[in-house]
Amino acid sequence: MSDQKTGMRKGLAQYGDAAFSLFLRKAFIKAMGYSDDALSRPIIGITNTYSAFNACHRNVPDLIDAIKRGVMLAGGMPLEFPIISMHESFSHPTSMFLRNLMSIDAEEMIRAQPMDAVVLIGGCDKTVPALLMGAASADVPAILTVTGPMITGSHKGERLGACTDCRRLWGQHRAGAIDGDEIEVISGKLAPGPGTCMVMGTASTMALCAEALGMMLPGGAAIPAVDADRLRHAEATGARAVALAAEKLRPADIMTPGAFGNALRVLQAIGGSTNAVIHLVAMAGRLGIELDMAGFDRMGQETPVLVDLKPSGQHYMEDLHRAGGLATVLREIRDQVDLDCVTVSGRTLGAELERAPAAWDQAVVRPASDPIHAGGGLRVLAGSLAPNGALIKQAAATPALMQHEGRAVVFGSLEDMAERLDSDDLDVAADDVLVLQNAGPKGAPGMPEAGYIPIPRKLAAAGVKDMVRISDARMSGTAFGTIVLHISPEAAEGGPLALVQDGDRIRLDVAGGRIDLLVDEVELGRRRARWTAPAATPKRGYAKLYFDEVLQAEHGCDFNFLRAEPLER
Ligand code: FES
Ligand code: MG
Repeated sequence: MSDQKTGMRKGLAQYGDAAFSLFLRKAFIKAMGYSDDALSRPIIGITNTYSAFNACHRNVPDLIDAIKRGVMLAGGMPLEFPIISMHESFSHPTSMFLRNLMSIDAEEMIRAQPMDAVVLIGGCDKTVPALLMGAASADVPAILTVTGPMITGSHKGERLGACTDCRRLWGQHRAGAIDGDEIEVISGKLAPGPGTCMVMGTASTMALCAEALGMMLPGGAAIPAVDADRLRHAEATGARAVALAAEKLRPADIMTPGAFGNALRVLQAIGGSTNAVIHLVAMAGRLGIELDMAGFDRMGQETPVLVDLKPSGQHYMEDLHRAGGLATVLREIRDQVDLDCVTVSGRTLGAELERAPAAWDQAVVRPASDPIHAGGGLRVLAGSLAPNGALIKQAAATPALMQHEGRAVVFGSLEDMAERLDSDDLDVAADDVLVLQNAGPKGAPGMPEAGYIPIPRKLAAAGVKDMVRISDARMSGTAFGTIVLHISPEAAEGGPLALVQDGDRIRLDVAGGRIDLLVDEVELGRRRARWTAPAATPKRGYAKLYFDEVLQAEHGCDFNFLRAEPLER
């Protein structure tokens, strides 16, 4: 077997006899029925992230077929291998809790098994960041493709998309406008096929950011899961992986500070999910890159939201694909993007933009002169309630609430909130500020998407649509409202959020970039002295590893020991 140029020799297990190790390796791989010719080719690993629990990845087997075709057409040998699969709805306690586990799986299996390059198949929210975090740490040439967005559903003539419309229609059900039978029917219409949520949720956001980062071939982010173009993109990805192996272009050569800057800029222009900030910070941390959050905040002031997709706008991902996908967005902001960054295609982002189809009239990506939201997508906040930062998706907030002072109505935990939120006795008014504690990285644990605190039932029934809501939790990218998230340090770590009591005054000043607790230091000191950590710490298993090692939101909730350089603690 002429395996000198292939991955077969890489990472040989040490029996103290390298020739014997290679002999054993060959003996076992030959049991798969591969010929010497096949094994002499560049070996391209393909992550199989299919699971029968994961409808977002239902088309992975078809994508693997197409990727293999591409690899073989280019003279390589494709070998698929399993990787943890995660769906948002089936990842208890949260997919965020498991993201780092998936990244460890990706890193170690890419490193352990002999491969010259790897094709990563992401899709559902946490899978793209987990795969890219793992690939960055493994430092093997890697290229990403995704399962692609779902096409839209329909109910009584109305177009529906997961899961912005899930939330909107459930809100109507809570308020009594949609009965139990109809909401059951609707549950069959919201996610009508394979692929990821088709609004600008986390999956769409991460796919677009990964393409902007240069880790995916052009156009790949927005192609619907069921479109034949999806398979052609997968085939091209497989073929390109063979070239990447020869060129030895590694994730660190592509995911540079400039490339992360492009991803953050795109995140603002698409009005993307708040989750993407955590993921991009974590990905960068794997490469020793510190993202500049003040710079990201400035980008939001320079770059308005241009993409008219739910939840901030009205269209869906299939419409963005028909409007030209990411290239159409990049063309609008090309002056603000680093066009010299090299992508997995081997060409620069600028060269790819030149090669993209010329612009045409379309209604999904607006010109900067007529944005969907002038103020920018995300705003980084700080203040006495969030010394290490917080985030608000201003494009999805109510303008009248962006400057607001109100009385705190505090829930100590998710359980407390579930118990009291809808009670008729709850002392709450529309101009109060709802506060949720202990729902951060350690608190819940796993930083659930609970930041979208429902409007208390009695207020919802009276027609209240939005209130200022504050927590250390995250929020689904498909949600909307005047919602302050990712407050750091979290309550479970004893951050000021832990000290808030019913009746305290809280001031939100989005224009000024501030979130403040209007309680004097003496009183806060008294409360701090009485504070005790709420959670009993896990004693065993992954939960213990998670609890011992997870970092706060400003460090991407990565495990400290997985960063390129662990923080001194
Ligand atoms: Fe998988 Fe929304 S649940 S992308
Ligand atoms: Mg989501």
